Amino acid sequence: MEHILIIGATGQIGSELTMELRKRYGNTNVVAGYIPGAEPKGELKESGPSAIADVTDAQAVASVVKEYHIDTIYNLAALLSVVAESKPKLAWKIGIDGLWNVLEVAREYGCAVFTPSSIGSFGEATPHVKTPQDTIQRPRTMYGVTKVTTELLSDYYYTRFPGIISNVTPPGGGTTDYAVDIFYSAVKGEKFVCPLKPGTYMDMMYMPDALNAAISLMEAIPTRLKHRNAFNIAAMSFDPEEICREIKKHVPDFEMVYEIDPLKQSIADSWPDSLDDSCAREEWDWKPQYDLESMTVDMLEKLRAKLNK
Ligand code: SER
Repeated sequence: MEHILIIGATGQIGSELTMELRKRYGNTNVVAGYIPGAEPKGELKESGPSAIADVTDAQAVASVVKEYHIDTIYNLAALLSVVAESKPKLAWKIGIDGLWNVLEVAREYGCAVFTPSSIGSFGEATPHVKTPQDTIQRPRTMYGVTKVTTELLSDYYYTRFPGIISNVTPPGGGTTDYAVDIFYSAVKGEKFVCPLKPGTYMDMMYMPDALNAAISLMEAIPTRLKHRNAFNIAAMSFDPEEICREIKKHVPDFEMVYEIDPLKQSIADSWPDSLDDSCAREEWDWKPQYDLESMTVDMLEKLRAKLNK
């Protein structure tokens, strides 16, 4: 990885991944690709090059790759699960037509590609506990359909991300995002209205671990990799009650009430409770740093500092 393009650099994962890659590979070697209307701002803009890289426009992606001598593309353009259900056509256009464009450009210019898959690539028929690396993938959500198609289309490097929790860029329209919103409510001293039932377990991961996963897999020794489909990666699994209890240890008068969102609940019910990530651990030494306890401490501290500014 010498010259890297991040497509979707201003999104939930991209904004932090771009900064992390700049730290590791040098500011000028990492191009922040964005779409008009989602321009990079602040540190993301000041610290290195940026260029319009709309995944639905193959020509535009190709010209950025050519201009910056790109050899590695992180393709992070996507709609999250709940939004994808209301805009299925756009989800396909960005997720699959877009991926096709990226793969074609990558083939032409000899680039390696990273595209994230997700716990959303599984469905009701998938074993929900300790979901194996190789298993049934028959999702019913549009998001899931695009993720399985992504896995089938790609023969490159990628991981199945759990719900990602970060204190920097707020996510938009995911099923796991309640686990981000809950921290904002806690820090603002507001009551949290939880859209999912108690007992709804899903895999989650703190952003620093997600960034490490995306970078370490791209740096992995290819001959050690036995699996070429998306790697299960996991860090923690909890339900609304458990995260609420953990937050209450630090914010004793924090309150949560339930108001179930049927769409989010049905999506969450179709997803695994916990993934088996032993293949990633064996083949490229995957190991998360954060669990629910340490993530909660860090999230509350960072959000307090941010919101009190
Ligand atoms: N965070 C995503 C979502 O909830 C899951 O990959 O849509």
